[in-house]
Amino acid sequence: MILAIPNVLSAEQVAETRQQLDTAAWIDGRVTAGHQSGRVKDNEQLVEGSPLALRLGEVILAALERNPLFVSAALPSKILPPLFNRYSAGHSFGTHVDNAVRQIRGTPHRIRTDLSATLFLSAPAEYDGGELIVEDMYGPQTIKLPAGHMVLYPASSLHRVLPITRGARVASFFWIQSMVRDDGERALLFDMDLAIQRLNRESPNHPSAVQFTAVYHNLLRRWAEI
Ligand code: NI
Repeated sequence: MILAIPNVLSAEQVAETRQQLDTAAWIDGRVTAGHQSGRVKDNEQLVEGSPLALRLGEVILAALERNPLFVSAALPSKILPPLFNRYSAGHSFGTHVDNAVRQIRGTPHRIRTDLSATLFLSAPAEYDGGELIVEDMYGPQTIKLPAGHMVLYPASSLHRVLPITRGARVASFFWIQSMVRDDGERALLFDMDLAIQRLNRESPNHPSAVQFTAVYHNLLRRWAEI
């Protein structure tokens, strides 16, 4: 499932984040790439674990905690501290798959990357090119979202970022270990949650709502790994 989550950050939060990123020190993005992806990756990143990355990452993590659409779709168990990248003219990232397991820098903790997230911090008008292309069962999907919006997609998918031909594309990217590792099971739970919310909205106190809610939680109980 590929899902756009609107307004993860407010316009003010995007502006504040961008102000700090635009004067930050950027390094070659290959430092966090695996062997295969390192050969096709050409962009810049903030130093992983730097005080600025951690501070800006906290703002994003706090926003995600309060975002019901994100929580329902991702069912997050662990989230890697957000990283930040910048693609300027000529930069791109060829087709690759993200590493299945990532160590949280400076800790013994590892997460399994079930979901990849890209939070756009540049408005689409600021740059040409730079679309995120994610291969899914319906073919390649093209993603370019307003600043402050985020896309969630299966970390198992092949994906790439098209070359930038003008301006710069600044984004945050990170991975999520879900309580439900299987993308299909997670998508079923998300659909059911949306249906229950709609039922509660359109038919408040409908007796089926409690039954559906029980089914939702009993499926989650069956599939969740804590
Ligand atoms: Ni990737």
